[in-house]
Amino acid sequence: MMAHKRPMIPIKSAQEIEQMRLSGRLAARTLAMIEPCVQPGVTTDRLNDLCHQFILDHGAVPSPLHYRPTVQNPGGFPKSICTSVNHQVCHGIPSQRVLREEDIVNVDVTVYLNGFHGDTSKTFFVGGSTSRSRKIVQVAEECLQRGIQAAQPGSHFGDIGVAIEYHARQSHCSVVREYCGHGIGRAFHEEPAVLHYGTRDKGLALLPGMIFTIEPMVNLGKADIKLMPDHWTVVTKDHSLSAQFEHTLLITEQGNEILTVVTSPPDSCSG
Ligand code: MF3
Ligand code: CO
Ligand code: CO
Repeated sequence: MMAHKRPMIPIKSAQEIEQMRLSGRLAARTLAMIEPCVQPGVTTDRLNDLCHQFILDHGAVPSPLHYRPTVQNPGGFPKSICTSVNHQVCHGIPSQRVLREEDIVNVDVTVYLNGFHGDTSKTFFVGGSTSRSRKIVQVAEECLQRGIQAAQPGSHFGDIGVAIEYHARQSHCSVVREYCGHGIGRAFHEEPAVLHYGTRDKGLALLPGMIFTIEPMVNLGKADIKLMPDHWTVVTKDHSLSAQFEHTLLITEQGNEILTVVTSPPDSCSG
């Protein structure tokens, strides 16, 4: 049998890690800045414009803008953040859509600062919530936490996937399988693909210095998804609610460090 070449997962240097902390913090600050603006009556375009300006004001550029041109979308992604509402799973395009009471919206922010990307997202309640929206948002956030807890030096990528999938199933929710987390650094999406399902002890071993995202998309109904005609927006096939949370994570000697954290008081979003 042919010897299989092991995929090379970049190990970041101390200098690269310091830069990634800065990128991660700016992404997290952007998300914290926008949170109070997520209110009934706001358009997703307005959230996009506020994030876009905040990112530029802090010496960075929004990574999604013009990302990945394809035949269907020659200009790449047309906006600076992703906003995915209700049954939209991910990659929703900001538009003139007005957010309404009891919607949920995932805001996904990625910034490119001094040559390094930082990527984080949260799902927010718009005004009030429903028992269904509280359920899916809570389970999605817990799934991310379970994945982070499983991301230890010496464990395997499969362990992360198992932890996430187990919690979603136990909560009678389902995990989207077509989209995954990813290595991140000088490139937006690097190796490895970080699956949100898997098998215990399988996959590559986690080593100190690896940086990747975990970003489970969890559905209240079935896991099946479809791509909308805009060739970006992903929705649940059964139109059930979907929620997502994402962090950029560094594996350390002792455990892990979340890089997409805020370390300063929140910035105002109205200014
Ligand atoms: N931020 C997304 C992720 O978590 C990717 C968005 S790509 C875009 O990987 F083009 F849709 F913006
Ligand atoms: Co993201
Ligand atoms: Co990501």
